[in-house]
Amino acid sequence: MSNKPSNALPEWTALQELQAGLHSAHIKDLFDKDPERFNRFSVSINGLLFDYSKHMITDAVQDALVALAKAKGLEDARDQMFAGAPLNETENRAVLHVALRGSCDPSVEVDGENVCDFVHDTLARMKDLSDDIRADKKIKTVVNLGIGGSDLGPRMAYKALKPYKDGPKTYFISNIDASGLHFRLNDLDAKSTLFVISSKSFKTQETYENAKAAREWLLKSIDEAELPRHLVAVSNNVDAATAFGIEHDRILPMRDWIGGRYSVWSAIGLPLAIAYGFEKFQAFLDGARTMDAHFKTAPLSDNIPFLMGALGVWYRNFWDYPAHALLPYSHDLRDLPTYMQQVDMESNGKSVTRDGEPLPYDAGPIVFGESGTNSQHTFMQLLHQSNEIVPADIIAFVNTWHPYKAHHEKLLGHALAQGKSLMEGAPPSYEPYKNYPGNRPSSTLVFDILDFHHLGMLMALYEHKIFVQGILWGINSFDQWGVELGKSNAEKIIEHIEKQQKTKNYDSSTAGLISYLHQKFIKS
Ligand code: F6P
Repeated sequence: MSNKPSNALPEWTALQELQAGLHSAHIKDLFDKDPERFNRFSVSINGLLFDYSKHMITDAVQDALVALAKAKGLEDARDQMFAGAPLNETENRAVLHVALRGSCDPSVEVDGENVCDFVHDTLARMKDLSDDIRADKKIKTVVNLGIGGSDLGPRMAYKALKPYKDGPKTYFISNIDASGLHFRLNDLDAKSTLFVISSKSFKTQETYENAKAAREWLLKSIDEAELPRHLVAVSNNVDAATAFGIEHDRILPMRDWIGGRYSVWSAIGLPLAIAYGFEKFQAFLDGARTMDAHFKTAPLSDNIPFLMGALGVWYRNFWDYPAHALLPYSHDLRDLPTYMQQVDMESNGKSVTRDGEPLPYDAGPIVFGESGTNSQHTFMQLLHQSNEIVPADIIAFVNTWHPYKAHHEKLLGHALAQGKSLMEGAPPSYEPYKNYPGNRPSSTLVFDILDFHHLGMLMALYEHKIFVQGILWGINSFDQWGVELGKSNAEKIIEHIEKQQKTKNYDSSTAGLISYLHQKFIKS
């Protein structure tokens, strides 16, 4: 893995020159010149077609991106990740979420523990626990209490797969704003509710406060002896979970090498196994493993995670495009953009190299999105006509689980129409506000159907795309120090608010706001 900043490499300069040559090109002209463009710039693997022909890409650009990846040691870095190297240098941690879906060398050990053995044992415990909970006819509702990676992955996947649900109804509460908690608990019956307290650290304030409130709420309706039956935890901090009152065999383990935002494949996925059954959870893991195998073995020129990641670097650093849009043409995937915001921006929203030097170029883009046709009635105006160019991923599914086939055909029509309109635009109009310049790049990803296997493929694909970008940028994609300052400032400010203390050491704005709150809220 090369530690040289990418822009010090001749391969970077080569890409700058290619960009200069394409500066005034139009993607539509690339199509006009080459009737085979779709075939040449698309890759099909089992269950997924990835069309990247509507990008500002030529053979020379693709070769130059592959050359940059080789110079940065991407393939070596990828193999190191699968082998359990401590790629998260600032926390001295391995990055082994791939092992959770069976994609790792059986000999890999971390801190003296065999990783595959840990994965198998945890899966066996997940199976037993989820089977027991599903068989317990008294438990009708499950509430996951967690935040960030201990919430977004299972929450998004639960909604995406809801048509297949045959277990208890599941809710997700993440927020320290107790509005969500209050309204949800008001609607539930304590005697038939199980809480899954999902927190790798078991220290996260939001989760801990919600867990305490949930325990109090349970105890208003059930005897203390009954409590253990209503609580389960997933955590790396078994002592804290035990001290909270959760029985040892109802605490499923995590490990330091499972990053929060990459943890849905671990016991953090327990709500999925409970709602859908362990076999379907396995199918989800199998889908991710299929993508791992593709990422590990496909040559870079046919490697979908590589191509997606490299195109992102091409636009971010050579075309100065600051954002990236995710457009799932699927109501069931409506939470994908929120989930991906954490995976992408918490991973690559960085500005120092792995050596701690200031990064001499931009890294991760601003990621946003919305389910497809809804986006067409909100921000797509900007994508079509603003001067800001935002590359987009259009994600569609050939088949659907529901019987409304005519709806689905229209949905697919919209998905393709957006890609075509963004790329092609329209001939200039004499009314300037009706001009569509086109030349706006997008990828189209078409999966067979949104089920456990294909959702696993999709999520692993984006994880690997983000990995590729982190290596090309030379950053650590696996720490998240940026979120810590706000947490520690909040601790102090909360104390001042709670104790109504005077706050001499703050800037006048924060001090003024605290005293305003004291007067208006606390004293009222
Ligand atoms: O907000 C930072 C973070 O550490 C995320 O990376 C993580 O997913 C989330 O908090 C929740 O952490 P925990 O699972 O330890 O409660």
